[in-house]
Amino acid sequence: MLIISHTPSPNLQRMLTAIITGASSKEVSGIEVKSITALKTVTEDVLKADAVILLTPENLGYMSGALKDFFDRNYYLCMDKTDGLPCAMVIRAGNDGTGTRRAIESILTGLRWKVVQAPMICKGDFQQDFIQQCEELGLSMAASLEAGII
Ligand SMILES: Cc1cc2nc3c(=O)[nH]c(=O)nc-3n(C[C@H](O)[C@H](O)[C@H](O)COP(=O)(O)O)c2cc1C
Repeated sequence: MLIISHTPSPNLQRMLTAIITGASSKEVSGIEVKSITALKTVTEDVLKADAVILLTPENLGYMSGALKDFFDRNYYLCMDKTDGLPCAMVIRAGNDGTGTRRAIESILTGLRWKVVQAPMICKGDFQQDFIQQCEELGLSMAASLEAGII
């Protein structure tokens, strides 16, 4: 499972750590978890993945430039080779998140990836609960992959 993220703040870094912790849970076996920053993720990483989790802040009503750069560099290289790739997104937003969600959903529709979890928007003042939600999402994705249901 591939986690593609841009985590410029301590809170986002904590969210990423929680996703990795959940995905690497002892409750799940046989799932290799790879976490790469969006700016360093290349097409080969995606082609090797059986599922993807995206993590980004919302900046100026859109996904981070780093995640957009990932899509810009890899969109056509992934096209037709990653149909149905199970995917989930986590957005950290100061007060909104909808622009980022819409933009990512639109790109994923173009790529024909399959969004298998409701988009998670962690918005407003940072809450400890976000960490637990991230961990649960990571675990849920890994367990679903192990069970062969995504
Ligand atoms: C330049 C800039 C633009 C931002 N634009 C938005 C925005 O359009 N919508 C929103 O909900 N939050 C916005 N934010 C807030 C960020 O989403 C938030 O600072 C980021 O997720 C990190 O939060 P954290 O420090 O709790 O991790 C913006 C932050 C910055 C620095």
